[in-house]
Amino acid sequence: MSTSIAGGPELPQSRRLVTEIPGPVSRERFARRQRFVAGGVGTTLPVFIEAAGGGVLRDVDGNSLIDLASGIAVTGVGNAAPAVAARVAEQVRAFTHTCFMVTPYDGYVDVCEELARLTPGDHAKKSVLLSSGAEAVENAVKIARAYTGRHAVVVFDHAYHGRTNLTMAMTAKNMPYKQGFGPFAGEVYRAPMSYPFREGAAVDGTDAAERAIDVIDKQVGAANVACVVIEPILGEGGFVVPAKGFLPRLAEWARSNGVVFVADEIQTGFCRTGDWFACDHEGVVPDLITTAKGIAGGLPLAAVTGRAEIMDAVHSGGLGGTYGGNPVACAAALGAIELMRGQDLNAAARRIGELMFGRLRGLAERHPAIGDVRGRGAMVAVELVTADGHTPDPGRAAAVSAYCHAQGVLTLTCGTNGNVLRFLPPLVIAEQLLCEGLDVLADAFAATE
Ligand SMILES: Cc1ncc(COP(=O)(O)O)c(C=O)c1O
Repeated sequence: MSTSIAGGPELPQSRRLVTEIPGPVSRERFARRQRFVAGGVGTTLPVFIEAAGGGVLRDVDGNSLIDLASGIAVTGVGNAAPAVAARVAEQVRAFTHTCFMVTPYDGYVDVCEELARLTPGDHAKKSVLLSSGAEAVENAVKIARAYTGRHAVVVFDHAYHGRTNLTMAMTAKNMPYKQGFGPFAGEVYRAPMSYPFREGAAVDGTDAAERAIDVIDKQVGAANVACVVIEPILGEGGFVVPAKGFLPRLAEWARSNGVVFVADEIQTGFCRTGDWFACDHEGVVPDLITTAKGIAGGLPLAAVTGRAEIMDAVHSGGLGGTYGGNPVACAAALGAIELMRGQDLNAAARRIGELMFGRLRGLAERHPAIGDVRGRGAMVAVELVTADGHTPDPGRAAAVSAYCHAQGVLTLTCGTNGNVLRFLPPLVIAEQLLCEGLDVLADAFAATE
């Protein structure tokens, strides 16, 4: 079943419900999905999409939903963005694949040059392109091990780094990501994260970093550590923003101990937080940075970018993969980056953040179930708690989300306890549509009181 309906920004930018959600056609399609698609693949909202663009998803029943998810932080530039679609169409007409390791092409090198320019720091940088975020994280670890000759990998509480064997080991949450899938890769050690809402103002960022460093020193030994891998703002783990000073202190410790500091910016990268990368906010310069998701407007592309001398520690042929840096995905990335620059999507993300923080803080005053409003730019979340003000309330998060879905607003949940509602609108969403989505969210809190 294919679709010939055009999406992109021309799609009418309004919420419009003509059936219940999911509608009868989506329900029928979902029954087919249940017959042929593996049960282990989850579904947040069982509506089948036939077109999308701007801040809208149109389903097969003719409903238009407000998109506050961007396909999990992917379509920041908007779905079917013209600059992306045009470059993809042009590339598909020219050639679709050679395998960069067999015969190279410019698109791959162009993306690497952009990554060298855009990622934090003005040192010499090189990149390897891959197809998924997990693959990028795996490769960052390979590179760090080759460079340092050490084995240990340090990750943090609530971390999410992917679903491959090594990245499952690096991911904190058991269900659904790890349950039944062990044994996991070894030499992965977990340190405490800075989590201001759960710690209160008592723990400042530098103290939280010292606590993590103490665990690493005592339980692993700095001399054994190849790399520290950290999301500068936690993604699946609950959009936790570490206290100011946490990341700079960790980066400094890594530098003085010969440890490769890896920022996993797969969810936070490419304008999402109002900067090109979340590390930019505190002037942190990682040795390696992993990117994916927002890089290519929806096509599968990922990268490890880092200091040239670290990247070049790997022997020729040690990095790569059949599809890594596929020419169509590279063309999409170049179109997406052009759009991010041309439309100043960093400023757009900051405007979205200001609007959302204002509205959500107002909502928190009326609903004590909202224990915390946090995030940065267009990466915003609320953590829901019971009447005691701290016990996680995943039931309320599910109820609020279900209400939003029924009213045609696509929201996501996250967090180790499943009690965080997260919002990742496309950075090109119209303000009126975003406000309407937030009105529905306010109704959802009132209706689930
Ligand atoms: C921070 C982070 N790292 C890694 C990944 C894994 O990326 P992928 O799903 O493309 O493998 C994700 C995906 O959500 C992520 O948010």
